[in-house]
Amino acid sequence: MKAVVITKYGDSSVLEYRENIDIPKTKPNQVLIKNKATSINPIDLMKREGYGKEVFEKIRKNKFPWILGCDVSGIIVEVGSKVTRFKKGQEVWGCTSGVNQGTYAEYTALYQNEISLKPKNINFLEASAIPYVALSTWSALIRWAGLKPSDLFNKRVFVQAGAGGVGSFAIQLLSHWGSKIATTCSKKNNEFLNNLGAEFVINYNEDDFSKVLLNYDLVLDLLGDLGGEESVIKSIGVLSKKTSSHYISLNHSFLRTIDEKGLFLGFPSALIERQKFRQLHKPINVHWSLYRPNPSALELIAKLVEQEVIKPVIDTTFKLEDIEKAHQKVSTGHTVGKAVIEITND
Ligand SMILES: NC(=O)c1ccc[n+]([C@@H]2O[C@H](COP(=O)([O-])OP(=O)(O)OC[C@H]3O[C@@H](n4cnc5c(N)ncnc54)[C@H](OP(=O)(O)O)[C@@H]3O)[C@@H](O)[C@H]2O)c1
Repeated sequence: MKAVVITKYGDSSVLEYRENIDIPKTKPNQVLIKNKATSINPIDLMKREGYGKEVFEKIRKNKFPWILGCDVSGIIVEVGSKVTRFKKGQEVWGCTSGVNQGTYAEYTALYQNEISLKPKNINFLEASAIPYVALSTWSALIRWAGLKPSDLFNKRVFVQAGAGGVGSFAIQLLSHWGSKIATTCSKKNNEFLNNLGAEFVINYNEDDFSKVLLNYDLVLDLLGDLGGEESVIKSIGVLSKKTSSHYISLNHSFLRTIDEKGLFLGFPSALIERQKFRQLHKPINVHWSLYRPNPSALELIAKLVEQEVIKPVIDTTFKLEDIEKAHQKVSTGHTVGKAVIEITND
């Protein structure tokens, strides 16, 4: 099959397009998907550079060649013997929760709990732009912060860095749930984020968000550590100092600490670091979020897409052969919504 693999860590030049890769074998609890499209997430770039390798290499016993990629939309061509929820021929979307089955390929074998039926009103390219950013948002708010959609009604939420893949999805979802949203972006994206549902859009080149936002209930920090320590402190500073306030970071040191110290020492160190960080900011609840699969959330999101509550946001479409350019685009840190990849249009 066609696939893009890496055989070593490095910059975007390590991505190799090949046509002779074996089609993955379908396990009893998996379906084999003929992929129509995938999309690029910053985590793909980070894995390409070796981020998380202490953990990922342990899981991925056969180290290289490695197919990256999380998102997928396509058609089921084979079902495993224990699959009960899906059948051949169905159009599905989803994302990998493991590291063995990357989606920069013509076929991917995914577990039943990693997919749902694709929304009928959008095409495969559009569908590939949503699952990972949607479930990352869901994981952050629902899984890690322990909130329910109704908890977010009328709440003042600050989405730090709103114009990318996660931000543009999160703003639409939070707006649907009735939150009052403030966000940051560069000037060119101001109107775009207003239209998605943000009430207050701050141009980070002109204004300091920490001087204008006060007494917020929740911060979804999409810069986190990558914005530097001062940015994290400022983001936490916009929250009310109450036990009902939540700060959720999507960029934190958990896997980086394990990479630095090794699995054995790194895992407890990362837990201790997280605990110290939590203590420091009490009474505010501090969360370090990690993506988790959630099939019922994916089904619910598919319904919201069909009701046109959530719309896919695509910056640029690339062919699988040109994935290097797509990685370069995402590495600028200024993609608006998603860079998506057409795998096949037959
Ligand atoms: N922990 C997890 O499980 C998890 C899951 C998903 C994502 N993440 C992380 O969350 C982050 C966001 O993901 P993403 O997919 O949304 O990334 P993305 O699409 O690459 O985000 C790009 C956006 O960031 C904005 N941006 C860049 N610098 C900014 C700044 N200084 N202030 C405000 N906005 C800024 C840009 O807007 P402008 O062009 O207007 O500047 C651009 O639209 C990534 O770092 C990713 O690794 C973590």
